[in-house]
Amino acid sequence: MIVTNTVKQTKEQIKKWQKAGKSIGFVPTMGYLHEGHQSLIQESIAHNDITVVSIFVNPTQFGANEDLDKYPRDFAADSSLCQEAGVDLIFHPEPDAMYPPGFCSLVDITRLKYSLCGKSRPDHFQGVCTVVAKLFNIVNPDRAYFGQKDAQQLTIIKQMAKDLDFDIEIVGCQIIREADGLAKSSRNSYLTPQQREQATILNKALVQAQSHARSGFTDIAGLKEEMIATINTMPLADIDYVEIVDSKTLEPVMEFNDDILIALAVRFGATRLIDNTTIPFKQEEK
Ligand code: PAF
Repeated sequence: MIVTNTVKQTKEQIKKWQKAGKSIGFVPTMGYLHEGHQSLIQESIAHNDITVVSIFVNPTQFGANEDLDKYPRDFAADSSLCQEAGVDLIFHPEPDAMYPPGFCSLVDITRLKYSLCGKSRPDHFQGVCTVVAKLFNIVNPDRAYFGQKDAQQLTIIKQMAKDLDFDIEIVGCQIIREADGLAKSSRNSYLTPQQREQATILNKALVQAQSHARSGFTDIAGLKEEMIATINTMPLADIDYVEIVDSKTLEPVMEFNDDILIALAVRFGATRLIDNTTIPFKQEEK
């Protein structure tokens, strides 16, 4: 497995593989890899000759009062996970390699960034689009893999790739959960044991909403209220949002159609967790 730190080294190595006719799969990450990332890596390995993983805690997607400094990092563990999984190259740049002095270009998206997480994280998706567009230009993959847990991010990246003519297939991969239903996330490591226990309410509220929707319940406002009430049974849960939106537009819906996303963000202390499900239930593409 090769580890690169500069854009130049990375591009050179990838060009060699592409010259030899190899297809490139790409898994962009911020590190502190868990089974969710592992499943993206496995998908990439199954469908491409070469798999590249980037590990970069991207400063431009964190707000001023967010967790950039304390975001968990463990390159040694990430590196062994990648090695064992069969990754061919890790791109692990320092912030200066991605944003050298004088850097002043941004990639932004309209429409899709205002709802859901965009309400409390107004600059977040501009940071995500900027770094992902840069990474796409550096790695130049055939396919790139993103988790459905970040449903808004996945929708935005698909739209950005289409709008900016990136010739890359964006593959969404299913949410990987702990045994008790909590969606895997690097941020779960911040939770105290009590917060961790109460955080299982998020998946329970989603499963409950899904089962109501399946049994023919059509009152969207009622469903949302019920989810809020369920989550609020946990005293440590502080709801940022619970929304029922159209999966494609991310706009709130008034009645059920056949492409619904139920998404939520809830704080436990300083830790903000997100989760979602779709109705009808889809395992995303993979
Ligand atoms: O989902 C993430 O880990 C990040 O937002 C991404 C896509 C790697 C961009 O920094």
